Order: sequence, then C-alpha cells, then structure tokens
Amino acid sequence: MEIKALEDRYIDEVVELWRECGLVVPHNDPVKDIERKLKVDPELFLVGVVGGAVVGTVMGGYEGHRGWINYLAVKPSQQRKGYGQGMMRAVETLLRQKGCPKINLQVRSANKAVIEFYSSLGYGNDDVVSLGKRLEDDS
Ligand SMILES: CC(C)(COP(=O)(O)OP(=O)(O)OC[C@H]1O[C@@H](n2cnc3c(N)ncnc32)[C@H](O)[C@@H]1OP(=O)(O)O)[C@@H](O)C(=O)NCCC(=O)NCCS
Repeated sequence: MEIKALEDRYIDEVVELWRECGLVVPHNDPVKDIERKLKVDPELFLVGVVGGAVVGTVMGGYEGHRGWINYLAVKPSQQRKGYGQGMMRAVETLLRQKGCPKINLQVRSANKAVIEFYSSLGYGNDDVVSLGKRLEDDS
C-alpha cells in the first residue's frame, strides 16, 4: 500500500469507501467535510492506494495541543491485512513531526471491534464524556 496525501482525483473513491464503511451519516456531508479539511492541514489527510485504487483513508488534525483522528477507514474487502494499522502509523508519524504530544479520537462505545483495533495500537480509554455542538448544519 502506498500512503500519500489526498489528491483531487481520489475524492469520489474516498466518499464511496466511507459509504461502504458506514461512516457517512445524515448530519455529515462527506464532500463538505473533505472541502473543509483541504483548507486546514491538508497534508494530514492520507489515502492508502493499492493497484491504483483507494483502500484506506485517515483524516488527522492538530490544533497545537492534541492530535485528532477522523475518518479512519479500510475497504471492507481489504480489512485485516494490516492496512488500518499502516494508515495509523503514517498519520502518527506526521503528527509527531508537528510536535503533537497526544492523540485523541472518538469511537462509539458499542463499536467493540474498532475499540479492539485501537487498543492493539496502544490507545486507551480516557474515560471522558464527549460533548459536541454543531455550528453548521450539513443535513
Ligand atoms: C477499523 C479499521 C480501519 C481497521 O482496519 P484493518 O485494516 O482491518 O485493521 P488491521 O488489519 O490493521 O488490524 C490491526 C489489528 O487490529 C485488531 N483488529 C482489527 N480489526 C479488528 C476487529 N474487527 N475485531 C477485533 N480486532 C480487530 C487486530 O488486533 C488486528 O491485528 P490482527 O489482524 O493481526 O489480529 C476497519 O475495520 C474499518 O474501516 N472499519 C470501518 C470504519 C470504522 O469504523 N472506522 C473507525 C471510525 S472511529
């Protein structure tokens, strides 16, 4: 798998991959999410490409205190081959290079498989309540 920053030519494939992985929900417009990310640290939005096709994505972020991970996804037919781990290692390296001391991410508590995945990479439960407030309605 070749891991590189998102290029425009991959955007349709990325959205399709997110749909396949169940990451597209009514209150998030994936195209708007991509457009917003391309205005802020676009080099932290990585795609994994095998044979010319996108098989993985991860959207990293860093605001000067914590790193953040969103939209980690591996094409269902390509899962359990180490690609998810590879995407995470790549974005962790970039965040470390930016001076980021800690990464946070959110997983639904019912999503046991993904929690196991992150545990295998050394992520622990911070035991916090995740709060949010929408500033723009995408639905
Ligand atoms: C989470 C996800 C990215 C993992 O990608 P992946 O390429 O399958 O993961 P890897 O092959 O790198 O797995 C590394 C290790 O994580 C653990 N792991 C991965 N998937 C797991 C699962 N479904 N159940 C339990 N452990 C799992 C295993 O320890 C695995 O090592 P092993 O295969 O040698 O046992 C993928 O399942 C996915 O895209 N899920 C749907 C989208 C999603 O929910 N994203 C997260 C949003 S927060």
